[in-house]
Parts: sequence; C-alpha cells; structure tokens
Amino acid sequence: MAISYFDLVEQTYEWPNLDFDLTEDETRLLFHGLDLSEVVKKYGSPLRITYLPKIASQIHKARFFFSKAIDELGYKGNYRYAYCTKSSHFAFVMEKVLAAGADIEISSEYDLDLLALLDRQGRIPPQTMIIANGYKTESYARKIGRFMATRPYRLIPVLDSFNEIKLLKKHIKGPFEVGIRIAVDEEPTEEFYTSRFGLRPKNIIQFYRRRIKNDPQVTLTMLHFFIHSGIKDTTYYWTELASWTDLYCSLKKEAPTLSMFNIGGGLPVPNSLAFEYDYEYMIREIVDNIKYMCEERKVPTPNLITEFGSFTVAESGVHIFSVLGEKVQNDAEVWYILNNSLITTLPDTWAIGQRFILMPLNHWDRPYQRVNLGGITCDHLDYYNSEVHLNHIFLPTLPSSGDPLHIGFFYTGAYQESLSGYGGVKHCLIPSPPHLLIDKTAEGELVFRMFRPSPSPAQMLEILGYQVDQECRDCT
Ligand SMILES: Cc1ncc(COP(=O)(O)O)c(C=O)c1O
Repeated sequence: MAISYFDLVEQTYEWPNLDFDLTEDETRLLFHGLDLSEVVKKYGSPLRITYLPKIASQIHKARFFFSKAIDELGYKGNYRYAYCTKSSHFAFVMEKVLAAGADIEISSEYDLDLLALLDRQGRIPPQTMIIANGYKTESYARKIGRFMATRPYRLIPVLDSFNEIKLLKKHIKGPFEVGIRIAVDEEPTEEFYTSRFGLRPKNIIQFYRRRIKNDPQVTLTMLHFFIHSGIKDTTYYWTELASWTDLYCSLKKEAPTLSMFNIGGGLPVPNSLAFEYDYEYMIREIVDNIKYMCEERKVPTPNLITEFGSFTVAESGVHIFSVLGEKVQNDAEVWYILNNSLITTLPDTWAIGQRFILMPLNHWDRPYQRVNLGGITCDHLDYYNSEVHLNHIFLPTLPSSGDPLHIGFFYTGAYQESLSGYGGVKHCLIPSPPHLLIDKTAEGELVFRMFRPSPSPAQMLEILGYQVDQECRDCT
C-alpha cells in the first residue's frame, strides 16, 4: 500500500510540531487545536485568517527571554519591545500590540496619521514610546513636530540622513530627543556594500560633536541599527553586533545622554516544519555580547530596544486555498491549480522566493505525490514548487469525489498585504480572499469575525473607472 501523506510527514519531521496537530482519525490538520477543514466548510475558500491570540504571546515570549537573560547575566539595563508597524498596519493588530504595552516603531508620515487617530480614540497607553524611523521628508518632519506639540507621548525621531536634524529643528518647537541610525555593512552576498539607510558610521561621532552636542534643543538618546537578513547565529551577525556595540561605547563616551541601543527587527519565524532556532540562546548571546563589550570599554550597558515586525505578526497569519484540479503536463510534472493567486496574495513567494510552512488541511490519509502549485492568474510566475530545504513539494493525491483538497500556507501574517495592497484590483481581476479574524475570550472561548469579504466585481470595476450598473452590482 502506498504510504500516506501523514506517514511522510511523520517520517520527515517531528510531529506534532509548532502550533499544529491532527484530528484523532489522523486525516485533518489542527491549528491551535482548531480543525481548519471545518473553518473552510463554514467560511469558504480561499480564506485569509488572522489568529489574534498569537500576537500577544509572541510579545510575551520575547520579553520573557530578554528579562531572563538580563536577570541571569546581571545586565544593568532594561528591555523594551517595540512593534514595527510596517509589517502589518491592521487595526486589530495595533489593538493587540498596544494592549500588550509594546512601543511603536514607525516608518512614514502616514503612520503618524494612524497614531493620531488612535490617540483621539484614547487607544494608546500614555507610556508608549514612538520611534520614528524612515527617511524624513518635509511633510514627515512637519507631522512629527505637530504630533510632539499636541500629544503626550515620548517620540524619538531617528536620523536616517545627516540633513534631517535641520529639518526636525525647523518643525519641532522646544527640546527633543533624537536617535541615530547606523548604515550597516550589507552581507557579502548583497549587491551593495553598505545599506542606504542610516548615517555612515565613520562620520557619526564627528556629526554628533558638530550638530548635537552643543545644541540645547537636541538630546541624543538612541543608537540604532538593523540587519535586514535577520538575527542569525552567523559570523556576519556577530561581527556586525560587535562593531555597532563598539560604536555605541565610543559615542557614549562623548554623549552621556545616550542610553538606548536599538538592535532593530529580524527575529526569525518558522518557515518549515524543520525550522530550528533557539530564541533563548540567541537573545542571551546578544545581551551577553553587549554586556561584555561595554564592560571592556568601561561604559554603562545600554537599555535595549527591539523593533520586531515579522516575529510579532507572522505566526498569526494563515492563507487557505483549495485545489481546483490537476493538470499533468508531461511525465514528470503535475500541477495543482489553486482557486486564488500566489503572486498577488503571497507576493513574497514571488518577489524574494520566500517559503512558508505549507500543509494540506485534509486528506492526510491519502497517498502523496510531488506537485507544482499554480495560481489561477495567467502569469507564468504565479507558482510555488519548493520548500526551504527541498526543491519540491509533496501533497496528497486528489480524491475523485467528496471534499476537494484544501491547503494552508502558515505564518503568513507579515508584509504580504503591505506589498500586494489590501483588497482592490489584482492580476487577472482575481480578488484577494475574504479575511477571517479568530480571537479568544478571557474564558478561552474562540470568537470568529468576518473582517472583510473579497472585493465584489462591482467594487473592482468601480476602482477601474467603470460606471457600474445594478446588474453588475447584483453579480457575485
Ligand atoms: C528599521 C526596521 N526595523 C524593524 C524592521 C522589522 O523587521 P522584521 O520584520 O524582520 O522584524 C524593519 C523591516 O524592514 C526595519 O526596516
């Protein structure tokens, strides 16, 4: 007898794993104990899900490991968790993040419109710190000035280029704090030597002496860097961390007001069932390395800030699709055609070859086969056919009748809508999936809320400038 998809998974990976398990009859996938095939029966497919309880639990997890490391190592400094809004701007995400007491890192002037709105609604705890990253345009600087003048929060603009200090001074009335972002060296595999973000490191101290030190309006409190390839146990990461901690120490000797070291985002998220990452070890090593270097340089250890985006939201996201049918194009290539688009709904799969955890929701007892997944748009790049460590994917064979095969991409909650846009008009007019929110009450009961249906044909055609008539509005 052919071995089943479940046998394959059990032989290849640890199982149950992460947030996943199977129903008792070992045919359907459970996510946080929830039978997703049942969810599909009720809400349909394609479907985008946000599982909200995961957001706060991620924040608590990082805080736990940082405070454990700080306590055990006797590190003299505290830790603040900031959320990087660009990874997901949804109101329900911000609500969870703010309720967990996280600080906020923003990247553009529009983030300030968002925060001003939340402030008017009384939704931002007064102790929230706002870190304003990103390139400062005149209008961004103006909004920073207005926000600072009218709202009670501690807002720290982080200089992304040298001339921003002038712009900020023009628009901010009264004294203010600033941070400086370091332009880090890119990984050797990148096309550039140095990041375009931030200030050239060798000029930072001189810049501080000339433009900040003797200016009574400006106080330097934060030094920031971000390694976009992530916090990894590699020589590259540890070398960068050591260089920028060293720069922190040198700057601290000149700038006694400097007290925060912001090590950016980049805490990774599982992208396969074989994912192995020791969060506790990595966080402890970071704290220990900073402590060691500061002690060597006889500089007080800084308060530590992170701005985790993916880590905060990715694991709350699921995208569900169904297989419409199979196409066998030659002796070796089998295609499963999906009822939505990968290129527009999960754009990172196409743009940067991002891999997500992919599993069927049902039919785990069926034999498996090697397949390519094809989106339903007519773009030939709308496909997905490899796992992180594997040049192919396996899924159950299709049943001849009964429930179609449903599949889920997991931990997809970060950046996908920021890149593809949300709702609206997409490739081949294939609309984005409906979006379901799942939350838990204090008593542990699950609550389901349909946040957005797919855009209707009439909505899409209206965006495109058509004069939509009633017949079109009535079509589904
Ligand atoms: C300055 C800055 N901080 C934090 C982040 C968040 O990174 P991640 O989602 O990898 O945690 C980003 C992402 O681009 C960033 O540019």
